[in-house]
Amino acid sequence: MKIFMDTANVEEIAKFVDWGVVYGVTTNPSLIAKSGRTQAEVIPEIAALVSGPVSAEVISTECAGMVEEARKLAKIAGNVVVKIPCIPEGLKAVKILSAEGIKTNVTLVFSMSQALMAARAGATYVSPFIGRLDDIGENGVQLVENIVKAFKLYGIETEVIAASIRNLEHVEKVMLTGCQIATIPTKVLEQMIKHPLTDKGLAQFMLDYQNSLK
Ligand code: G3P
Repeated sequence: MKIFMDTANVEEIAKFVDWGVVYGVTTNPSLIAKSGRTQAEVIPEIAALVSGPVSAEVISTECAGMVEEARKLAKIAGNVVVKIPCIPEGLKAVKILSAEGIKTNVTLVFSMSQALMAARAGATYVSPFIGRLDDIGENGVQLVENIVKAFKLYGIETEVIAASIRNLEHVEKVMLTGCQIATIPTKVLEQMIKHPLTDKGLAQFMLDYQNSLK
């Protein structure tokens, strides 16, 4: 499972790129707004920081507008992937973009049916939202598991990005689903390296080393 960062904050991305763990990045209009900068400013910077895919979302809700935005976004850098909402107009846009060789990430996916529709329209990636399903009492991880299983069953090459990840449990559970990618917010990524026994063990090693010098 590859690690993507789910943020538009360039400093945060640079920090985890230095750790060697981040392959790609996903953004959306909410994350761009949170960064305090514009999409036009941050996407080129992010695309230069990571070697893998960088998702930038369209804001049009009809096909022609989405396609126009997508063509511009795809020109920013070779690793830009266009994020398209999972609605009928979005599917039409994905079909056109896929024929043009522009990679797409169909977002706001909440069901197996939506995932299949996106894949058949030609999506490169689909993003089921785990946390938002959990919020309404459903099981987001189970949806990821089911999509991965079904895609494998039918030889569908569209990759699954587990999105709307809120905690370590989500990360560790989706690791067992076989999904190709998890896009993880910075706060959760920071928690992933931590374990109290690591800190305790290291403190003891340092103490024993100092004592051995006496
Ligand atoms: O990757 C999708 C993500 O940004 C949505 O997360 O926590 O707003 O449901 P959340």
